[in-house]
Amino acid sequence: MTILLLGSGGREHALAWKMAQSPLCEKIFVAPGNAGTEAFATNVAISPTDFGEIKKLVLAERIDMVVVGPEDPLVLGIYDFFQEDQFLKSIPVIGPSKLGAKLEGSKEFAKEFLLKHRIPTAAYHSFTKETLEKGFHFLESLKPPYVLKADGLAAGKGVLILSDLDEAKFELSNMLLNDKFGTAGSKVVIEEFLDGIELSCFVLTDGKNYKVLPTAKDYKRIGEGDTGLNTGGMAAVSPVPFATPELLEKIESRIIKQTIDGLNHDKITYKGFVFIGLIIVDNDPYVIEYNVRMGDPETEVVIPRLKTDLVALFKAVADETLNEIDLEIDERAATTIMLVSGGYPEEYQKGKVISGIETVTDSLVFHAGTKSENGQVLSNGGRVLAVTSFGTDHHEAIKKSYQNINKLHFDTMYFRKDIGFDL
Ligand code: AMP
Ligand code: GLY
Repeated sequence: MTILLLGSGGREHALAWKMAQSPLCEKIFVAPGNAGTEAFATNVAISPTDFGEIKKLVLAERIDMVVVGPEDPLVLGIYDFFQEDQFLKSIPVIGPSKLGAKLEGSKEFAKEFLLKHRIPTAAYHSFTKETLEKGFHFLESLKPPYVLKADGLAAGKGVLILSDLDEAKFELSNMLLNDKFGTAGSKVVIEEFLDGIELSCFVLTDGKNYKVLPTAKDYKRIGEGDTGLNTGGMAAVSPVPFATPELLEKIESRIIKQTIDGLNHDKITYKGFVFIGLIIVDNDPYVIEYNVRMGDPETEVVIPRLKTDLVALFKAVADETLNEIDLEIDERAATTIMLVSGGYPEEYQKGKVISGIETVTDSLVFHAGTKSENGQVLSNGGRVLAVTSFGTDHHEAIKKSYQNINKLHFDTMYFRKDIGFDL
């Protein structure tokens, strides 16, 4: 098969790396890809949201399947674009329909779905400019801290957690009246605060059947000891140590099964990944968010632990025969640590020469934000490389990643040195 993968981060490098190992895969194109994917796939300088150019590429290169990495093309309806085009409709797209992608694209849509299908989640109400006063009253009825979420996509920045009522009212007004998060915040979901521990679970579904992938947890804050600004993720571990079989059983029966049944019941076409963000309160799981893609950097630990042929899995998703495949998972622990550009998640510089990648032999180095130029690999984003290692336990895996990070260098390189402190 010839496969087109959309995206350019560490998630996409890990997906492409895994697909390239499949005997079913003859050739991979990545749009736009990075210096890591370029080593074994063909990068094409097309934006994942430029559907017109994607169509031309798919037809010219006789692509057999499209795998979507990030959420934007899904929320913009790439699945439906293929279905509605007479020349593209026989080519499977791995990802949900536009309606399915609303589970990530609209917090309110997700909350309505959760409530309708009786899936445990935090109590909530949503408000607009017109109902601002009601929003104030709702805040007054809650106990702090207050959770405010911009309804639309806000690049992971649309959630505010505030301990003070006046501040919460101020921020609510700011979002609704002053467009703090642009149009993403023209509707705001106010949620009950859930006090517990976070865990993410990943599911691959063909719309009828599903497979539960390994659990993972990321480290979101830039600073050691989980301090400072939120990032896309500075590290990840899989499996999550506290995810006991008993807890996983509750997650599957109360949340995963209900979600897939709910999609079916609502006739929402969904053939792709579901990333469910959970908070565990007193050993009971609650959904805090759906994402309609894999996590990044979670993919860099989840996918290496998957022994099953990923292309065979995607083919089964397209054919609705996922029930015929058994998942095989590597029992070892996996850890990934992100190397980022100094300044990230605020201002940072790009174009720094990266050295040492070829000297790392017992960890996987996934490229997150890189490009190649004149035979050199240059940094090309805030998150630059993800160093993934295996171990009999997380501490061994983390140690190996740190040893190999010592061999890597670029000007302003920063990483967290405390990963695993909480395990
Ligand atoms: P989200 O984008 O919905 O995942 O929210 C971002 C982060 O805010 C999550 O990773 C949680 O740490 C936190 N969060 C979101 N909703 C809640 C909630 N209802 N209670 C407590 N923390 C929350
Ligand atoms: N690491 C969190 C995410 O991909 O959304």
